Amino acid sequence: MPQVAEQSDHMFQAYGIFLLEQKHPLIKQLRKEHTPSIHGHKTWNSSFLLMDYFLHNRLLKNDLRVMELGCGWGPTSIFCAENAGCKVTGVDLDEDVFPFLETQAALNDVEVTTKKQSFDKLSKKELQNYDLLFGADICFWDQLAKIHYNLIRRAFAAGVKDIVFADPGRSPFFDLAEWCDKKFHTECLAWYSTEPEKFEGYILHVRNN
Ligand SMILES: C[S@@+](CC[C@H](N)C(=O)[O-])C[C@H]1O[C@@H](n2cnc3c(N)ncnc32)[C@H](O)[C@@H]1O
Repeated sequence: MPQVAEQSDHMFQAYGIFLLEQKHPLIKQLRKEHTPSIHGHKTWNSSFLLMDYFLHNRLLKNDLRVMELGCGWGPTSIFCAENAGCKVTGVDLDEDVFPFLETQAALNDVEVTTKKQSFDKLSKKELQNYDLLFGADICFWDQLAKIHYNLIRRAFAAGVKDIVFADPGRSPFFDLAEWCDKKFHTECLAWYSTEPEKFEGYILHVRNN
């Protein structure tokens, strides 16, 4: 278990969990040994959109099996474990993000299982163990829209019930939303968070029907 400091500067609260800023001494320490290389170097604001959306639609339940795609430092994973007692797995291709996730999970006294895997390599066999998949700001390159569309198809074939993505509004995210809308029960909603401050973006909620 990583050692966690007392509450201090460069730590903030949002939606009932504590998170660390880049200037926090624990983060500075972790950076000496771990260098995330696919944009997993901080908490991205789309995470707060997901937390807010989950509070509004009450998707989360105790023991719900949830997987965060491209979890990075794991803010939404931690929220799901803390807020609703979900069983959470954080997946990321870049294993250098996991020490940051583990430190923040320890700070909030929750457990998040981690798994190093690429989106396109998540198999139906793996996905059948989950009820809900979600991801914040993970559709940032053009090629990721197709990769996520195929992942959604595999996940639904495996029995996953809901898939929720949050995004600041990048064009590959809207491509993904359009393709999903043609095939699945899909909602793409403008959304905003209120904690730690107001952030605007979009939620894509695709249901298996
Ligand atoms: C912009 S960051 C978002 C991190 C986190 N979701 C958040 O909101 O703070 C994108 C994350 O996706 C991960 N990622 C990028 N490509 C990936 C892939 N092909 N498979 C799995 N994870 C990937 C990165 O390592 C990074 O942690």
